[in-house]
Amino acid sequence: MEKKINYFENPGIENTEKVIELVKERREELGIENIVVASVSGRTSVKVLESMSDALIVSITHHAGFKGGDDLELQQEYVEKLDNAGVPVYVGSHSLSGVGRGISNKFGGVTPVEIIAGTLRMFSQGVKVCVEISIMAADAGLIPTDKEVIALGGTAQGVDTAVVLKPAHMGNFFDLRINEIIAMPRP
Ligand SMILES: Cc1cc2nc3c(=O)[nH]c(=O)nc-3n(C[C@H](O)[C@H](O)[C@H](O)COP(=O)(O)O)c2cc1C
Repeated sequence: MEKKINYFENPGIENTEKVIELVKERREELGIENIVVASVSGRTSVKVLESMSDALIVSITHHAGFKGGDDLELQQEYVEKLDNAGVPVYVGSHSLSGVGRGISNKFGGVTPVEIIAGTLRMFSQGVKVCVEISIMAADAGLIPTDKEVIALGGTAQGVDTAVVLKPAHMGNFFDLRINEIIAMPRP
């Protein structure tokens, strides 16, 4: 089977529109219903919603306190649009850092989960994010684990990576399968 992968010259938010366009095409080709989007503010999820209003979209943001205090980084204007369209906006612990980050922050060293995250980042930040948010969404009961979904992730803002994957729950993490890479930054 031959398939196309779109490689971006640089990582970052400027690739967002192209990723969404490619996801729309691949979704139609494969008949995929569920889309999981990493969207800290909610902005990228609104863009995905505007392009694919018939999809079952889940929007995942950073856990409270990621930037300090107890704050969330969601922006109300985007949350309202997502709420009105019935798109769940999920806030929870990050599956590829979790308490592991608290341990390494306090005692130094690295936990196995952080090594998994580092290994996935060998593809791109976004590939790591796609895996992470799919586990989070599956554990929240927001996506199925018995069929393929499309996940979108990026480098700090927007999205530059999209993959077709079969999700899994935390307890059987290694059953997750990355079946297709739709787009990723090359460097
Ligand atoms: C749970 C979670 C983990 C993330 N981890 C990373 C990361 O490790 N590296 C990175 O560059 N961006 C990370 N991001 C950012 C996303 O990849 C993406 O660029 C961002 O959520 C887009 O948000 P926006 O819609 O506000 O632009 C993460 C986002 C979420 C929600």
